[in-house]
Amino acid sequence: MQPRVSSLEEGKDATIKPQGRVLPLNLIKFLLLFMALGLVFSVISMYTTRYLGTQNTLPSVHSGYLPCFKESNNFQRWIRPPSNLMHSMTDEELFWRASFVPQLKKYPFKRVPKVAFMFLTKGPLPLSPLWDKFLEGHEGLYSIYIHSLPSYHADSPPTSVFYRRQIPSKVSEWGKMSMCDAERRLLANALLDISNEWFVLVSESCIPLFNFSIIYKYLFRSRYSFVGAFDDPGPHGRGRYNPNMVPEVNVTNWRKGAQWFEVNRKIAVSIVEDTKYYPKFNDFCRPACYVDEHYFPTMLTIEAPQLIANRTITWVDWSRGGPHPGTFGKADITEAFINRILEDNTCLYNNQPTSICFLFARKFAPSALEPLLEIAPKVLGYG
Ligand SMILES: *[C@@H]1O[C@H](CO)[C@@H](O)[C@H](O)[C@H]1NC(C)=O
Ligand SMILES: *[C@@H]1O[C@H](CO)[C@@H](O)[C@H](O)[C@H]1NC(C)=O
Ligand SMILES: *[C@@H]1O[C@H](CO)[C@@H](O)[C@H](O)[C@H]1NC(C)=O
Repeated sequence: MQPRVSSLEEGKDATIKPQGRVLPLNLIKFLLLFMALGLVFSVISMYTTRYLGTQNTLPSVHSGYLPCFKESNNFQRWIRPPSNLMHSMTDEELFWRASFVPQLKKYPFKRVPKVAFMFLTKGPLPLSPLWDKFLEGHEGLYSIYIHSLPSYHADSPPTSVFYRRQIPSKVSEWGKMSMCDAERRLLANALLDISNEWFVLVSESCIPLFNFSIIYKYLFRSRYSFVGAFDDPGPHGRGRYNPNMVPEVNVTNWRKGAQWFEVNRKIAVSIVEDTKYYPKFNDFCRPACYVDEHYFPTMLTIEAPQLIANRTITWVDWSRGGPHPGTFGKADITEAFINRILEDNTCLYNNQPTSICFLFARKFAPSALEPLLEIAPKVLGYG
């Protein structure tokens, strides 16, 4: 650009200068010669360009690769979700790819936002028939991702919504960084589908407490992402903080919360792209600091406090005491029991009090499936 601009300006000066002046004859002769040479050069260059230009277009005109070329440049390739969830990307490659965010906020196509249900499991999904009922009729509004132990071979039938929804997985252990790695892997894979807008982390023992439309609206109308985060001054809260985490993490920012979250796309990206807090938690939050209870709540309290509700919407029963929450089996499941979960709650939703505080509940044993399927149409609103 620069040379062309300056030569144009020089030319402009040259035409302005001679006006009103008598030029010496030698200079006129020199200018004429210069113009003649310029003409010859421009004619030569015109022909050269035309000849070379023709040559350049020849291969593509006769190329058999034209349809292929067209296909790979199609707009669809940017908005179509991956057809096969299995891939050979490393976590580093996957997280990099998943962190892409468009800068133009208006989508140039009709984007129907979806909920990504991300199952963090050991293997089988014993409650999948209940989820099938919950999702029935809402195709196009959700997607499924499953992270299980790599040794587990899924056997969902092709008719199931869980068929071939496994993502490349690694061994993950409760309370260790490998658990957060698995959660980030689920988020990253789900982010590859540009239509996923909410990201719901569930386990094989979770159930939905309402029908799909209610859950979809509750999430999409929420101003905040649901991440449990509270400041526990005791030994199981601040007691697990390690002062080596400064300056990135101060004890005043230290938070605790259950790992089961429901986050929007913006928060999902900030979890996947984090390189600032990860090393600190990886080095200084090891058992008896259970990193999956502290990493995301603390990081988001520092990075995005105005975007999280600080509460979970996954119900769990701690009333029995001990380090593990209550698990419910066949004998526990009655209408009255489910109604007890749904009632007697108050919490804030978009800063207003509401009685709907939980959309999901855990933990349910495989034996709970049969009675749950039976009472679901009446008390859960699906099936
Ligand atoms: C979901 O439940 C609500 C309230 O019970 C009801 O009004 C709505 O029709 C239900 N939606 C579907 C798709 O069943
Ligand atoms: C932690 O405290 C230090 C000094 O008080 C401050 O410079 C730093 O910004 C704080 N970090 C966070 C994440 O609040
Ligand atoms: C969540 O907690 C943070 C401080 O930790 C606060 O700034 C934020 O307003 C809280 N979110 C809501 C919705 O109250």
